[in-house]
Amino acid sequence: MSTVSWTENGTRRNALWHSENGTAAPARIVVVDDRMSANAALRLAQSGSSLLWRGDFHNARQLLRAIDRRLPEKSSPAPERGDLGFSFHAHRQARSERAALLGRIVIVLEHDHSIRLRRAPDVRAACKHAYGKPTNESGDVSSGMMLVSLPELLGVIGAFQWHRKGIDIAALGARIHPGYGVFAPTRDEYIDLVARAPLPHGIDHPVVFDIGTGTGVLAAVLAQRGAREVLATDINPRAVQCARENMQQLGLTGRVRVVEADLWPGNQQRADLIVCNPPWLPGCPTSALELGIYDPASDVLNRFLGNLADHLTPHGEGWLILSDLAEHLGLRTRDELLARIADAGLEVTARHETTPRHARIADSTDPLHAARARERTVLWRLTPRIP
Ligand SMILES: C[S@@+](CC[C@H](N)C(=O)[O-])C[C@H]1O[C@@H](n2cnc3c(N)ncnc32)[C@H](O)[C@@H]1O
Repeated sequence: MSTVSWTENGTRRNALWHSENGTAAPARIVVVDDRMSANAALRLAQSGSSLLWRGDFHNARQLLRAIDRRLPEKSSPAPERGDLGFSFHAHRQARSERAALLGRIVIVLEHDHSIRLRRAPDVRAACKHAYGKPTNESGDVSSGMMLVSLPELLGVIGAFQWHRKGIDIAALGARIHPGYGVFAPTRDEYIDLVARAPLPHGIDHPVVFDIGTGTGVLAAVLAQRGAREVLATDINPRAVQCARENMQQLGLTGRVRVVEADLWPGNQQRADLIVCNPPWLPGCPTSALELGIYDPASDVLNRFLGNLADHLTPHGEGWLILSDLAEHLGLRTRDELLARIADAGLEVTARHETTPRHARIADSTDPLHAARARERTVLWRLTPRIP
């Protein structure tokens, strides 16, 4: 964390800058309050200043919304099929520029993560969930205050609400509680695929690996289906903690072990069933949460396929769960995927497909609508090819 300084009422002040997505610390900070109009705030933000809000908390949210409305339309109209790849990159770029601009509204979190603004909510529990103990609790007395962007803080609050409420997983008959910065299983169609696909022939109680476990939802489904033992991995430490907590709540800690690892658990262990729901889109993640969505140059997918055979027991099977959205966006072709499977010495023994049911599919104003409307989610059953 870097330190930022600004002058307020003639006094020089300092705070630690915190940004979950690695946004650079503000170079220039202007103190503003309820008297600031949205137009003036937008001009300041566009000129590169960060606006430290000292007014009413609800007014800050309204200011954010008002600035958002003043920005150009989020994206161009839904393109023809051929332009979808271009449109996807333009859409991502536009969203990131918008987020950078809105992120210039910043507020102070006190040493105990409280906010000293009128009508401010108590965000201490939400911040502790996302950021860990505040500095005073962790014994670090060198610095008290933290400066964060308001959109990030609103994300922290929203994530905590999700965490507390949980997501009902029909296939589990239980709730899964996503953590801040952890891929949330809000789409249930891929979970149903894992809940229904036949287990490897002749192995009723398989030893399972769940690679990239996120909240642990698939590990839990497979434990419930009778897996003797599940070893779940994730590269995101928040996911590891979140999955462990979910296993605890589901009473599955005896059968599901969660470890932090880059894809594979160590010691060259083998499993009868290896499940992986990798990030579905080739692209660069810009935060821990996006580790669940974007896979730089399909590295996770390629390494999973490339090493799968070495981790399977003789009659074992790999289940790769992948949406074909990347294919519809022109980011990967079906032939490329099949070639990677073949190059890894694997063959496809079955494919189980389903149609996503999430709300965005019906949104015809979404610039990616043409791709989303054709999206299918596929569970690929893979075994080592017999020479
Ligand atoms: C699409 S999410 C799936 C999460 C969960 N399995 C599910 O189905 O809801 C992909 C997960 O892979 C994890 N991940 C990404 N790269 C990884 C890597 N190199 N090793 C292990 N896990 C990784 C992400 O942190 C994320 O939790």
